[in-house]
Amino acid sequence: MNLPSRFFVWNESFELGIPSIDADHQGFLELMNNLCSAMDRGEGRNRTQATLDALRAYATYHFIREEDVMGAAGYPGLHAQQVEHAWYLYYLEKLDGLSDADPARARETMEFMRTWFVDHILGTDKRFSQWLTATEGDEAVARHLEAEATSAGLRRSA
Ligand SMILES: [Fe+2]
Ligand SMILES: [Fe+2]
Repeated sequence: MNLPSRFFVWNESFELGIPSIDADHQGFLELMNNLCSAMDRGEGRNRTQATLDALRAYATYHFIREEDVMGAAGYPGLHAQQVEHAWYLYYLEKLDGLSDADPARARETMEFMRTWFVDHILGTDKRFSQWLTATEGDEAVARHLEAEATSAGLRRSA
């Protein structure tokens, strides 16, 4: 299909300065690259569907995590985030059956995902980190992440 092997490339401008969210975003980007290369290498419908399912599961996990952080900080832009997240998940739902057998649709899909990712991270997610800095909400976020890490530790040791 002739797509670049790394269709999505991380760059520093994507960083929000919240390490767990930044790590999630990099993972997200890797999964979109996996989907892209599965189609590019013509790995077939099943393999493509598996990468799509993994992307959907990760997106769901990340969006819940991000919305929890925003909720804990009392972020007034939470609803706009939820709308954009829900819309992206709806878009992924519609991709079932995506296949390298239809290169035009595959390319259009990857282009759409790249645009969505860049716009969402640099626009909607960045607005959250800017708001955090302006309102000094960082402490609420730090407390939330600490509690999250503690409960993950408790789950692991249980
Ligand atoms: Fe987001
Ligand atoms: Fe995000």
